[in-house]
Amino acid sequence: MNLKDLYINFFVSKGHKQIPSAPVVPENDPSVLFNTAGMQPLIPYLMGEEHPYGKRLCDYQKCIRLTDLDRIGDSTHHTFFEMLGNWSLGDYFKNESIAYSFEFLTEVLHIPVDKLAITVFEGDEEIPRDEVSASRWESLGIPKSRIAYLGRDDNFWIPGDSGPCGGDTEIFYWRDDSTPPVNFDPHDERWVEIWNNVFMEFYKDKDGKVTELAQKNVDTGMGLERVVAVLEGVYDNYLTSIWEKPRKLLEQITGLPYQGNEESMRIILDHIRTSVMIAADPAGIKPSNTDQGYILRRLIRRAIRHARKLGLDKDSNWEEQLAKCFIEIYEPYYKEVEENKEVVLNVLKQEKEKFNRTLEKGLKVFEKISLNTNEIDGETAFHLYDTFGFPIELTIEVAKERNLTVDEVGFQKKFQEHQEKSRTASAGKFKGGLSGNSLVETKYHTATHLLNAALKKVIGPQVHQMGSNITEERLRFDFPCDHKLTEEEKQKVEDLVNQWIQKEIPVTKETMEKEKAIQSGAECMFIEKYPDMVTVYKIGDVSKELCGGPHVENTKELGHFKIKKEEASSAGVRRIKAILE
Ligand code: SER
Repeated sequence: MNLKDLYINFFVSKGHKQIPSAPVVPENDPSVLFNTAGMQPLIPYLMGEEHPYGKRLCDYQKCIRLTDLDRIGDSTHHTFFEMLGNWSLGDYFKNESIAYSFEFLTEVLHIPVDKLAITVFEGDEEIPRDEVSASRWESLGIPKSRIAYLGRDDNFWIPGDSGPCGGDTEIFYWRDDSTPPVNFDPHDERWVEIWNNVFMEFYKDKDGKVTELAQKNVDTGMGLERVVAVLEGVYDNYLTSIWEKPRKLLEQITGLPYQGNEESMRIILDHIRTSVMIAADPAGIKPSNTDQGYILRRLIRRAIRHARKLGLDKDSNWEEQLAKCFIEIYEPYYKEVEENKEVVLNVLKQEKEKFNRTLEKGLKVFEKISLNTNEIDGETAFHLYDTFGFPIELTIEVAKERNLTVDEVGFQKKFQEHQEKSRTASAGKFKGGLSGNSLVETKYHTATHLLNAALKKVIGPQVHQMGSNITEERLRFDFPCDHKLTEEEKQKVEDLVNQWIQKEIPVTKETMEKEKAIQSGAECMFIEKYPDMVTVYKIGDVSKELCGGPHVENTKELGHFKIKKEEASSAGVRRIKAILE
């Protein structure tokens, strides 16, 4: 029996109900593209809402993490993985949780106690040292010398910046042929973390305030691919039983051995598996140029490029064969994979055919460039994107292989320029007016000007709009900045915008000659793109920008401004998502 089944059977025998994996695209959380942990879909229940299946739950959850996308190709990272988890929603706590973990590891998986070591939270001014967990482990037979106390960086878990959180205890396994040392050194890499039991007692809100949760929860997580590798005694995750069939199939399709071709083969295997899981999701994601669709496009196109590197014929159905193999593996566990088989195969085939039409021509551009220079300028990178369908990340990867650099900031500029052009073209050139814009979007337009002005004050005058996107739900703003904003900087920006809103500043509009507008110091993104007569929107002495509008008449209409997210958009470019509430 495989680990997934053993795990579920064990926890069901301990009174847990198995819940189905949530979709990989979160259903009610637009702040993340994909579920990144087993607990994510359970947040409302960890906060106290009653779960229809009760207080003891277990599952295997489809997760996608994109933080390591660039590292795929090594032996241990994956974009998609499955996380095994069990939860107590205000039911049992540390003692039972630790006893269950110990029993599962030693009696079901038959791991000798001597190969295990434990870390627990050492405590700080807010949370006491976790003696309860430590003595529970000891009572079960883990010697003191194998229990290490570590601080917040290691033994405290929170999903991102805010949410339910708490200290945790982590279980390590000795992955080496030598006898495990008596004293546990958590920094010795032969000790590999295999399971994490989080004791969720607190809630940290977006402003950093910590309160006690109404109930004490347990949230445990075990990454399937890593643990299987550990248990099967291999150092390359792709050599485990999980990947055996697709890996052998890829060897057969290419006629090449895995050894010596690891990087491209891992990328193809990982990316096709993740693409299958995204395309099969009930959210109905299709390759596109935004959000999850863009990730799907990137994954498929990168896999295609590596398939070409391994010499696969562009018209062969390699992707279909691999996808069918993954579908066969996962359909017994996920009904959506079974139900959406045809959709998945079509998505992959169509995207492959689309990229096949331009990939070769795009690669020639690289060859030409490397004859004369060692940098791909912004314009060329944009040309590769726009005409040959090369996601910028792919351009960077291909460039690197040829010792070329890419002007990413230049690319972003061209990209925004293009977006601006198509936006104004479809909105009727520089007419402004409310047509096509709801009142909410109009408010976000004005809020965007205020945010731009506030960032200039807090971060520096070099800040300007590199990209902007407005929906009914939020604004998104990209700007040049070389660091992640601190909590303090974010707070200052928010406060400034809210002060200006409270000051009830009128928003005025004036039509003038372009030259005059520029001379008067009005901010303008793409000077050459504007007609001779332009509209300048002024918000008191806070902001002055060339803009097509529309805007509200007074800042008081905006309500309250709040930054929801601050993240990297690309090298040297930060992205803020903010709302009005
Ligand atoms: N939330 C914890 C983790 O992701 C345990 O499930 O590791």
